[in-house]
Amino acid sequence: MSKLSKKHLLGIKDITAQDIQLIFETADTFKDVLNRPIKKVPSLRDITIANIFFENSTRTRLSFELAEKRLSADVVNFSASTSSVKKGETLLDTVNNILAMKVDMVVMRHASPGAPHYLSRHIKANIVNAGDGTHEHPTQALLDAYSIREKLGEVAGKKIAIIGDILHSRVALSNIFALQKLGAKVMVCGPPTLLPKFISHTGVLVETDVKKALAWCDVANVLRIQLERQQIKYFPSLREYSLYYGINKKMLDALKKPIVLMHPGPINRGVELSSDAADSHHAVILDQVENGVAIRMAVLYLLAGSAN
Ligand code: CP
Repeated sequence: MSKLSKKHLLGIKDITAQDIQLIFETADTFKDVLNRPIKKVPSLRDITIANIFFENSTRTRLSFELAEKRLSADVVNFSASTSSVKKGETLLDTVNNILAMKVDMVVMRHASPGAPHYLSRHIKANIVNAGDGTHEHPTQALLDAYSIREKLGEVAGKKIAIIGDILHSRVALSNIFALQKLGAKVMVCGPPTLLPKFISHTGVLVETDVKKALAWCDVANVLRIQLERQQIKYFPSLREYSLYYGINKKMLDALKKPIVLMHPGPINRGVELSSDAADSHHAVILDQVENGVAIRMAVLYLLAGSAN
């Protein structure tokens, strides 16, 4: 099999373990390309891709743009804050106008869960979800799982703890789906107020004591407190959160076992992670960012050749 089962990448929930393995194998090839002096291949020379971001981004937007350019695609970037969305244009009108300029693929980040799914019912172009509100962030989960595979040899059987603001995190849900499809054991850990009520229905273990989570896991994927999505107070103060859930290097060293520390970024240094932990030998945070380009090249390349 050399094709994805779907025309779009809307979420990890929709794709199969075979799709994920195919993306990883394709990313291996592109990672080799990225380590060559000439980091470019002509694979998407005839394809035009629009990056449509309705929410802020550093890593994801630049990573997609680099992935597209490394594949020789033509690239246009759209930022909602400087667009005619400000004049009242709808999402569908905006995207249809961009597609009228002969765009083949859309990479979209939007604050509303389900926005790329809605678009997929109305447009012909391939869509990649670059994060839809608190719902899914599929390429982040793929690059996270790929980084675990790279560091530990395989994902199956490994124990992964996702620690932090699970309630508001699209990274958490996509990671849970991806890691379980690949055969990992997954735990979520955070204050009870930041754990979704029915999260155990996904089959994950649930823990509120961060020290117990760290003692259990091979990999700790630490998530940011998403203050911009919190309309009410879920914990007394950032200082208190850091006191009970913040992870520092001393805690990691005290485990007396190898542990892989991950974070999707952006990091709130001194809140969920101390600087000495984020910059320690346990951390693979910048490896995750590096792998993101190869993973996104693989996704775009495979979708361009997917069944329509
Ligand atoms: N990890 C991630 O999605 O980062 P950005 O918000 O900077 O894209």
